[in-house]
Amino acid sequence: MKYGFFDHTQKEYVITTPKTPVKWINYIGTLAFGGFIDQNGGGVICKGDPAENRIVKYIPQLPAAQMNGETCYIRIKEAEGYKIFSPYYTPTLDTYDHYECRVGLGYSLFISEFFGIRTEILVFVPLQGSQVIRTITVKNISDQKKQVDCIPVVEYSHFQAIKQFNNADWVPQTQMSRLIDKGNGFKILKQCAFMNLGRAENFFTSNHPVSSVESDRAVFLGDHGYGSWAAPGALQREELGNTQVNRGDNIGALMHHLGVLGAGEEKTVITQLGQVKDIETDLALIEQYRDPAQVEKSFTELREFWGSFLDAIHIDTPNESMNAMLNVHNARQCYITKNWSRYLSLYQLGLGARGMGFRDSSQDVMGILAGASAEAVLLIEKLLSVQKRDGSAMHQFNPLTMIANVGDSAENEERPKYYGDDHLWIIMATCAYVKETGDFAFLDKQIDFYEKDKDENPIESASVLKHLLRGIRFTHDNVGRHGLPLLGFADWNDTVNLRTGAESVFIANQYGYALKELMDVLEYKQDKENLEMCRHYYEEMKTRVNEHAWDGEWFIRYFDHDGSPLGSNRNEKGKIFTNAQSWAVISGFAEGERAKTALDSLRKKLNTKNGIKLSWPGYNRYDKNIGGISSYPPGAKENGGIFLHSNPWVMIAETIMGNGDRAFEYYNQINPAAKNDIIDEYEVEPYCYAQNILGDEHPQFGLGRNSWLSGTASWCFQAATKFILGIRPECSGLKIDPCIPKTWRGFRVKRNFRGAVYNITVENPKSVGSGAAEILLDGKAISGNILPAPESGKHYEVRVRLG
Ligand code: GLC
Repeated sequence: MKYGFFDHTQKEYVITTPKTPVKWINYIGTLAFGGFIDQNGGGVICKGDPAENRIVKYIPQLPAAQMNGETCYIRIKEAEGYKIFSPYYTPTLDTYDHYECRVGLGYSLFISEFFGIRTEILVFVPLQGSQVIRTITVKNISDQKKQVDCIPVVEYSHFQAIKQFNNADWVPQTQMSRLIDKGNGFKILKQCAFMNLGRAENFFTSNHPVSSVESDRAVFLGDHGYGSWAAPGALQREELGNTQVNRGDNIGALMHHLGVLGAGEEKTVITQLGQVKDIETDLALIEQYRDPAQVEKSFTELREFWGSFLDAIHIDTPNESMNAMLNVHNARQCYITKNWSRYLSLYQLGLGARGMGFRDSSQDVMGILAGASAEAVLLIEKLLSVQKRDGSAMHQFNPLTMIANVGDSAENEERPKYYGDDHLWIIMATCAYVKETGDFAFLDKQIDFYEKDKDENPIESASVLKHLLRGIRFTHDNVGRHGLPLLGFADWNDTVNLRTGAESVFIANQYGYALKELMDVLEYKQDKENLEMCRHYYEEMKTRVNEHAWDGEWFIRYFDHDGSPLGSNRNEKGKIFTNAQSWAVISGFAEGERAKTALDSLRKKLNTKNGIKLSWPGYNRYDKNIGGISSYPPGAKENGGIFLHSNPWVMIAETIMGNGDRAFEYYNQINPAAKNDIIDEYEVEPYCYAQNILGDEHPQFGLGRNSWLSGTASWCFQAATKFILGIRPECSGLKIDPCIPKTWRGFRVKRNFRGAVYNITVENPKSVGSGAAEILLDGKAISGNILPAPESGKHYEVRVRLG
């Protein structure tokens, strides 16, 4: 592989060069404390909220070679002065003998060799910890003695991330640092905004004597700040300047003299960068991690956490890339999106208003149900608490304050202030949660709606089931001239913002699927009244979609305020949209020939070798009447780009139609783990999904962007495990309904479900790919394809024969 390879035994991706086409990152910690780290050791860290409590300044727009956030210098004393280099390659850019960044589960491990020094740096955040640990081991691999220093450096941000960039007087005036010396041989460099003293104090410290420090960036770089990160003036002197600042651009730099290392000799320094309320009173939280044994224990706990999360589903199929993604990397990405929603990445910068997305998190949660259902339900509760009394939902919320907002719709006075789809996703997520866990009692839990009275007390509370029914009711009651759901400001496609009165065929289908999911639950609960109501709503919408939205060869995507279609053969641009086809099948509204024709048209008009485009042809000039979609050139993002999030929906639709070959073809063509041959064209990480790839109307067809935080993660995981492999939780038990490529001889899955373990072997002797002819549960044939609810703690053997 060109820039790296998968190390399957370590569950790591190993980046073998510091210079990837764009930065490739990994996540450490969680939203409670954590952030991301790139393959050059830089990254961003925050506590609780990237916008409201940011610790490290990281600017993705900087040239790649620059110091960004954090780095470390190694210094070798030579007769004529010091040789200085960074074991992370940037910002000194020296020639290296070896470079490796191991992207692990919740950690990155850097191994590099420069000038006879091998450095290994393990970076992670302990579970529930409030500090980044970096264990830096410096080894002399030459045959000569070397006198070596190690100087880790961090650059701080103002805690309110956006202010850092829009005020260059007030921000520096608020910043300060102090050196704390407790006389135990260690030093702590404290940094914070003056107003955060005793409330949120950052600390940078290590478990090795520190002979000097620096916290003023200009002093460290030297020459009034005209010195550079590549050759900081301060590193030409034996000791740092010990500046404790009362203002300015704050950094932390710690001078560690490691002494003379003989050939083969090594020394380890463990640094901590974190935040506590008050360093003086929270000292114990810091002191504990000076002990290497504690650090090792915490690292083991982290590995155990990931081990148990991944243990929930383990697959073994004939396709290596699929195995790598489902067993490790896609599962991990699901957990990352669940934590970070669309808040903090190289592309979604977490600086200001955005917060957690309602629709995004509702979908993310569905990707972690098997491995982390307890965390999932907490997020589901949060989401339900920003649902409004009328059943619609607030579009985004800030995780620290739980204050929600209406997203971009606030910017357009004339348009509705809600998104037509948001509230329907939480119905799907909640139903998926109860199907996974069997926790039907959750449906009775009381949760407040978002609205508050003048004293900030919630106005109304209702059971979870009532929240869901309110959501159904909202869509039922808010329909347009064809009886199809009103679009609101937008639906899943944020960028089509039509005038008030426009209708969305996507929402109609989404509503259909949400109703189906809810009907499963109501039927199981024997709630006849609500079941009848939902059945009626379902049939009513099915009729309307088929009556009004069929265009002849495919389904229309929207009707504008005046009733004219978008996504119709009659349109000059935007003739056909993927989601109108896939979701018509997922909802069950499209059946038989019509469903097949819709998916065939999609294949003909929208499929490319790099994935399925969202629409075609792209709008070729800005049109304020349709909004954001026309702000990109044709082939980019929502305007005819390959918007990956919508690809797994097509896979699911194809499995519903029994077409495993196509479902798998669509799966494989976007699998990042299978992109090595075109990685220079694709550019982004091969170990997680990106949000978008430029489509074939764009000159850079194949270029990926916006990796990591995308609904693609959750839906690809669901499409593959629940629909292609077909292991799908239902209310009464686990359904076995594979739809695989005909050429596969079979596959195996180990699946934890409601406290039991299923070892499932599927055989496909007649090359049919779907339809179980026989299912043996512990040797006994079952009728139907749903394994009955298990006994917790038991292991079951399941043998399935297709054909
Ligand atoms: C982005 C948004 C998501 C939206 C999608 C399509 O990924 O985060 O909410 O559904 O774009 O517009």
